[in-house]
Amino acid sequence: MRVRFDIKRYDPEKDEAPYFQTYEVELEGTDRVLDGLNEIRWRQDGTLTFRRSCAHGICGSDAMLINGRNRLACKVLIREVGSRVRVEPLLGFPVVKDLVIDQQRFFQSYRSVLPFLINDEAPPPRERLQSPDDRERFDDTTKCILCAACTTSCPSAWGDESFVGPATIVQAHRFIFDSRDHGAAERLARLSGRSGVWGCRTIYNCTMACPREIEITQAIAEVKRAAVVGL
Ligand code: FES
Repeated sequence: MRVRFDIKRYDPEKDEAPYFQTYEVELEGTDRVLDGLNEIRWRQDGTLTFRRSCAHGICGSDAMLINGRNRLACKVLIREVGSRVRVEPLLGFPVVKDLVIDQQRFFQSYRSVLPFLINDEAPPPRERLQSPDDRERFDDTTKCILCAACTTSCPSAWGDESFVGPATIVQAHRFIFDSRDHGAAERLARLSGRSGVWGCRTIYNCTMACPREIEITQAIAEVKRAAVVGL
């Protein structure tokens, strides 16, 4: 099938403003949007710039706006989107070039909630054990791949750069509810202001945007509750 790609281009060093450039590619319905982008870059226009790595929905590097929705280009089949595809960079962060956004603020926010296991007790001879129920408590949020699809779909994050955004709260949730971790109080203290969990207005865009189908709004509600009444 002949597929038309309208791709938002912008090189801050050369262009006064972003513009759309159109390309046509021959693809199968079972090809992915990422295959189309690769075809364009490899055979038509080597200046087209986008991130991708694993091509299997694991690394989170090719999140972009595809026909108006935040998706991973490697997870969207051409038969889902049809013969016209509009591709734009994620919203809310500066564009470095074409489909590549500057993720510095995103990862600064991520690091601010100490996204690693905190436990100063001497390690046991083998792994730190926990029950299946304790593991289940944070299972959903372990699926996050830091693609930024949630944070860049969130109107609260668009309107307030100090808001940490849903991805950061998801990462905090993953450790706050881990029975082996001792850093929950510190993380909850960092998230207890308006730039933390109370910046969330329960709009649900994040949950709808997540390519891993994490119940993000529910996870945020659980962190809000823990911030008020404790674990
Ligand atoms: S390229 Fe890794 S998630 Fe798509």
